[in-house]
Amino acid sequence: MNPTKSTDQLDPTVFVIFGGAGDLTWRKLIPALFDLSQDRSLPEKFAIIAIDRVKFSDQQLRKRLREGVNQFSRFGKVKAGAWNQFAPHIQYQQGDFKKLSTYSALGAQCAGLEKAWGTKAHRIYYMATPPSMFGEIPKFLGRAGLARDREWARIVIEKPIGYDLDSALALNAILAASFEESQIFRIDHYLGKETVQNMLAFRFANPLFEPIWNRRYIDYVTITVAEVVGVEHRGGYYDHAGALRDMVQNHLMQLLCLVAMEPMVSFDADEIRNKKVDVLHAARPIPADGVHLCSVRGQYGPGGSGRGSVPGYRQEEGVAPDSPTETFVAMKLFVDNWRWQDVPFYLRTGKRLPQQASEISIQFRAVPHQSFPPEASLGWQPSRLVISIQPDEGIVLGFQAKYPGPKMQLRPVNMRFNYRESFDAPSPDAYETLLWDVMKRDATLFMRADQVEAAWRLLMPVLNVWKATPPSDFPNYAAGTWGPEDAERLLALGHIWPLPTPLVRPAQPTDARPPGRRRR
Ligand code: BG6
Repeated sequence: MNPTKSTDQLDPTVFVIFGGAGDLTWRKLIPALFDLSQDRSLPEKFAIIAIDRVKFSDQQLRKRLREGVNQFSRFGKVKAGAWNQFAPHIQYQQGDFKKLSTYSALGAQCAGLEKAWGTKAHRIYYMATPPSMFGEIPKFLGRAGLARDREWARIVIEKPIGYDLDSALALNAILAASFEESQIFRIDHYLGKETVQNMLAFRFANPLFEPIWNRRYIDYVTITVAEVVGVEHRGGYYDHAGALRDMVQNHLMQLLCLVAMEPMVSFDADEIRNKKVDVLHAARPIPADGVHLCSVRGQYGPGGSGRGSVPGYRQEEGVAPDSPTETFVAMKLFVDNWRWQDVPFYLRTGKRLPQQASEISIQFRAVPHQSFPPEASLGWQPSRLVISIQPDEGIVLGFQAKYPGPKMQLRPVNMRFNYRESFDAPSPDAYETLLWDVMKRDATLFMRADQVEAAWRLLMPVLNVWKATPPSDFPNYAAGTWGPEDAERLLALGHIWPLPTPLVRPAQPTDARPPGRRRR
């Protein structure tokens, strides 16, 4: 999370990718490492060892990875010179993840690099494999003695961390048998996004908002992660996961923690993670008979999207034709502590919604006494702060201003901070930030075992009740709409699911009406 990346701070590193021929490597990991190399943020002594079952030569793999970089690098299509400098760092090793010989060969390969470099190197083992391998690879790494060095070896694991609380506990136990917690980096790519990190800066580097960041001034909070895309080619995985496991258990819980956490004493990984996990511990448990009062699930049917008409979820490849899997979740949670008692946190996420938008909206309370005459304040609304994560990154503060003219008339207006306009620097991809942090051994933006488990613990009653009572109304929203009507019933009187707030000032009309206030 260090803002000034520089190579001289990084020791020699061998970056091992299990699943080196897979989609994540091609789409995310290599483009991120390539972009870091373009920013001169990789150590000089650096190697990538990609391991997978399929047969590839180094050249074949590099050719495939180059296509990924062409598509996903933030520098656009890669220039031959830049690629020719980067590609020799990549080596391929064919191997079976369930055979000790794969790990012995890996150990020898790492030792060979260290010998050639004349120095010890950090070894990062990245599990970019299907989750079924998450329990296997750490065991073999341990058995092969590759996890032993607490300072120099670490393991990176992607979500899903478990399928439920029990499997998460079991997986964490397997990891802990070979690695110490300080060596384990559980990635949630939302934490690498700039605005998500900026939330700490916004809240704790400015004295302005923290004094009002509590139940006295805040009426309710909404956290929306809306996607236009459907399940794409991931139907097989998604149909066994669903939106609660895929998005809420990790990304939305992380956002909740960052909004609701207490100020940290220092910028230390464990201190910040302690404060975050405290939020989950304070979250009001959901009793089985209260699940329907605080959660709504949905599944999209055929409908329209910006790209024309699209099939329903049950018609997607890899999805069962009578699938009960949810593609939309809305929840109402409470954080039972002095700061947040009785303030609802509404969370929602879904696929095939009308707009891609991830944002947090902090709705402030009304003024205690309305001193303006009623005719001055037609359309009056309490202040609202929107933290926009994507597609644009920034913050919007909506408040009341006097409309120009002789009469006293109040109108809502917006004050906007847009990352792109304010800083002459492109935002790195979340993976760049996170991979660099792994190399630096900075765990601030990674999930600790207890945090993952606390999130599962909170959501288990919902999963259990949903499993026991299959939905009878699926599909219950058409692709291209804001989810099932039922999501409205979670809201207390006067509360709304706000529409996304644009960061760019709309051309017409002016800010006479605040964007994002209408319901549907
Ligand atoms: C992933 C989920 O973790 O996050 C996907 O598995 C989802 O289903 C994706 O589409 C969303 O990430 P982002 O960065 O595009 O908002």
